[in-house]
Amino acid sequence: MSFTLSFAAWGLIGGLASVFAELYGLTASRTALLVAVPVLLGSLARLPMGMLTDRFGGRAVFTALLLVSALAAWIVPTTTSYASLLAAAFLLGLAGSYSQKCTHLACAVIPQPERGVLHCPCHEGYFDLRSGRPIAGPPSRPLARILLEVRGRDIYATGVEWRTT
Ligand code: FES
Repeated sequence: MSFTLSFAAWGLIGGLASVFAELYGLTASRTALLVAVPVLLGSLARLPMGMLTDRFGGRAVFTALLLVSALAAWIVPTTTSYASLLAAAFLLGLAGSYSQKCTHLACAVIPQPERGVLHCPCHEGYFDLRSGRPIAGPPSRPLARILLEVRGRDIYATGVEWRTT
């Protein structure tokens, strides 16, 4: 449930990009920057979030993350300029920092494409890169699968498939 909520918040800007572009008369490059900010921050924040989770535990860090995400999602409809929308998008990026959470204790997993694995540095967990299934370490359940859909030149995340085996 928490993951679904944070994922929905994280995709808020991308899903409404065309609405914001029309509302603020954005150029294509400004719209692209707006969509990229949460994605980039979400990617960059995964490492410190994993380290914080290792130190304080998944429940505490994820609860704080959800509170920040809720605040950011509340700010989005109150924005009145491109700059304030960009700031809200920056905060929403934190919600995406958990989209690669390990099924052991929720640290962020890191892709290692050259080895064909996703590595969780917290307790040396490993997942198969193609299937998301655990192959070494403490995790016993596979990673959630993000469902993607290609529409024209855009890729949309349309759902999450939870897996237990
Ligand atoms: S949190 Fe990933 S192996 Fe423990």
